[in-house]
Amino acid sequence: MKHLGKVLLLLVAFNARADDTDVRAPFITTPASVVEHMLKLAGTQPSDVVMDLGSGDGRIVIAAAQKFGARGIGIELDRRLVEESRRNAQRANVAARVSFVQGDVLTADLGPASVVTLYLLPGLISKLQPRFIYELKPGTRIVAHAFGMAGWKPDRTETLRITEPHPGQGPESKIYLWIVPAEARGVWRGGGHELRIEQNYQQIDIDGAKQARLSGKDISWQLGEARFTGVVEGDRMAGELAAPDGRRQALVLLRAGP
Ligand SMILES: C[S@@+](CC[C@H](N)C(=O)[O-])C[C@H]1O[C@@H](n2cnc3c(N)ncnc32)[C@H](O)[C@@H]1O
Repeated sequence: MKHLGKVLLLLVAFNARADDTDVRAPFITTPASVVEHMLKLAGTQPSDVVMDLGSGDGRIVIAAAQKFGARGIGIELDRRLVEESRRNAQRANVAARVSFVQGDVLTADLGPASVVTLYLLPGLISKLQPRFIYELKPGTRIVAHAFGMAGWKPDRTETLRITEPHPGQGPESKIYLWIVPAEARGVWRGGGHELRIEQNYQQIDIDGAKQARLSGKDISWQLGEARFTGVVEGDRMAGELAAPDGRRQALVLLRAGP
């Protein structure tokens, strides 16, 4: 059955006791091939800190260190799984690059992450979603297995065929990538220009400009024939306006209002 993994996760969850009003995600593992695709989809590099929220037996964090040279942090409620993850990290010779914290993802410090991975139930994901926007640095990649986020369109989605036998999983897994966008909304002024930007996650509309794009801190838009490419950092947008004849002009805009 196509969505067996997702259905199984939901079924087990409904039979489980929730810790609070939410249903707690049970321990079901992501198949190794899917783990590798998730980390590739995130573009994981040795400079990354990969944080798996609900890290189970530690497989995502361990693969991030072993196959991508990254550092990793796993957050897991279940003490026995935390202990098992530490043993698995020792066995994989990556114990120096990874750590496992016993705790609740809802109160975990997300600050160190440059990549966040998830295989959690939608109720828990929806509680984390506002924290992703306010606490993760712009440009942080979030990759989820099986469940998406309400109202936040993924930057990419992949459907994978699973070849290795894996209890509780169907033959397909869906994975999603989001890139945390900078806060770009508001009125911006500079170089004789005034722009009003409306924002819904990474989707932006600019009054007076067209072809507006935002990916992490990187922003671009078209003003008449000229194309602006730059970065948004706090209340400053800085970059270059390139004319079709190749002339380039530095441009800085400052946020002038909400
Ligand atoms: C579906 S498993 C995923 C395990 C691993 N990330 C993987 O993909 O193989 C979800 C894990 O999240 C843990 N979990 C559920 N709710 C949690 C919470 N609020 N805080 C921390 N861990 C949680 C469960 O104990 C379980 O190990």
